[in-house]
Amino acid sequence: MNPLHDELKQRYEAMMASFKKTEDDPYRLHFHVMPPTGWLNDPNGAIHVDGVYHLYYQYSPYDAAGGLKYWGHYTSRDLVHFKDNGLALLPDQPYDLHGVYSGSAFEENGVMHYFYTGNVKHLGDHDYILSGREQNTIHAVSYDKGMTIEKKDVVIDASDYPAEYSNHIRDPKIRKINDVYYMILGARNRNDEGLVILYQSTNLTDWTYHGPYFGPLKGMGYMWECPDFFELDGEDVLILSPQGVNQDGFLYQNVYQSGYYLGEMNADEVTFTPTSQFNELDRGFDFYAPQTFEDEAGNHIMWAWMGLPDADYDNPLEYGWQHAMTLPRVLTVENHQLIQKPHPNYQVLRKQEDVRSLHLSEGAYEYFTGTAAELLVTIDDVTKLTLTIRSDVTLTYDDETKQLTLALGEAGRGRKTRTIELTQLKQLQCFIDQSSLEVFINDGEYVMTSRMYPQPDEEKIELTGEATGTLTHWLLEQKNKS
Ligand code: FRU
Repeated sequence: MNPLHDELKQRYEAMMASFKKTEDDPYRLHFHVMPPTGWLNDPNGAIHVDGVYHLYYQYSPYDAAGGLKYWGHYTSRDLVHFKDNGLALLPDQPYDLHGVYSGSAFEENGVMHYFYTGNVKHLGDHDYILSGREQNTIHAVSYDKGMTIEKKDVVIDASDYPAEYSNHIRDPKIRKINDVYYMILGARNRNDEGLVILYQSTNLTDWTYHGPYFGPLKGMGYMWECPDFFELDGEDVLILSPQGVNQDGFLYQNVYQSGYYLGEMNADEVTFTPTSQFNELDRGFDFYAPQTFEDEAGNHIMWAWMGLPDADYDNPLEYGWQHAMTLPRVLTVENHQLIQKPHPNYQVLRKQEDVRSLHLSEGAYEYFTGTAAELLVTIDDVTKLTLTIRSDVTLTYDDETKQLTLALGEAGRGRKTRTIELTQLKQLQCFIDQSSLEVFINDGEYVMTSRMYPQPDEEKIELTGEATGTLTHWLLEQKNKS
């Protein structure tokens, strides 16, 4: 019996019983996961078991501006239609009282295992970096395939982390290699440098500190959040979300980044040696804290928070919700680069197809409509190209500079421009979902993701410039249209 758990749960159920506001929002999304109400951030515990995808997430149900973190829980059989299963983990124990923070899941012998961070803040005069904060690592299990989660043990108490680290150690991700479980955690050391640290275990209960897995690295910031590691197409991949990296031209323009290194994991030392640069996973405005999992067919899938902490732009909060997940993306490695493609299941939403051959020149344009739409542009030849979405949002390519620029104007609520320097523009695949835009460039070589707030009742999508190629437009089903 846990009276706090019961009270928090009842409070949530009472609120949900009377809550309807998000349904009236003209900016509500149709084919992206968004919170039923309140605030959403990182994807957590993403997993595919017995044909069911589970997507847990950082969730502050009571306030669209954020607050105490729970885990919310969606399930899906197709990655397109999702069922809300309410709260999965509540901040109801002394070791996670100020937030059930991010974590991950895996399944073994019919049992689902979860490792997450329990956040605790002590009262008093603290900086909450070197003192005043506990970030415990907790093991939880589910014996009913992810529908109910029981907390099991604090496997690493905050007081057990090595002395060289600050209080900021969180976001466990586990991988099993030759009967040994390896856990990586994002960390900030006492010199204000970010790094990924490693623990190991043979029984999931007793964990020993192994040392840094990767980092710190000059110029790579003071804290690394949400690390993820896996092997893909013969390469070892390390994903992380560093904080404190300085802008470098068109790179690292957001307040915090999310990106990856390709490299090699040294099996004896269990350390990582990169063989690539740090590459941002997304070059738009709203992308952070990605998490990957392998589905039952062996595809590597990634979700990310379509949002960012501490950004100097915002989203409307009038309808009581904020933030969403990106589309799930399938990852592959090609030519020493991570390629991201939208998971193809969304194609069941395609309603009306319109294929045109593209012959744009001065004064000509192609015109479409749709506030939930997909646009695929395959380019044979281009001098310049501008895609305009409603009034204020433009995506412009100039073949002279090879720059592709997303500009949001008033619709950006503070988001202005993001630019990528390409070697060539070959293809654009755009997903417009009411107040979100994801642009996959050159078949997944780059992605730009952004929230946008043009006039909600405007429908215009227009293409102008000088270019030839093929263009396909689909209206996508508006699942949430009431
Ligand atoms: C990333 C993050 C994580 C943390 C969680 C708390 O956005 O800050 O490091 O676990 O969000 O909500």
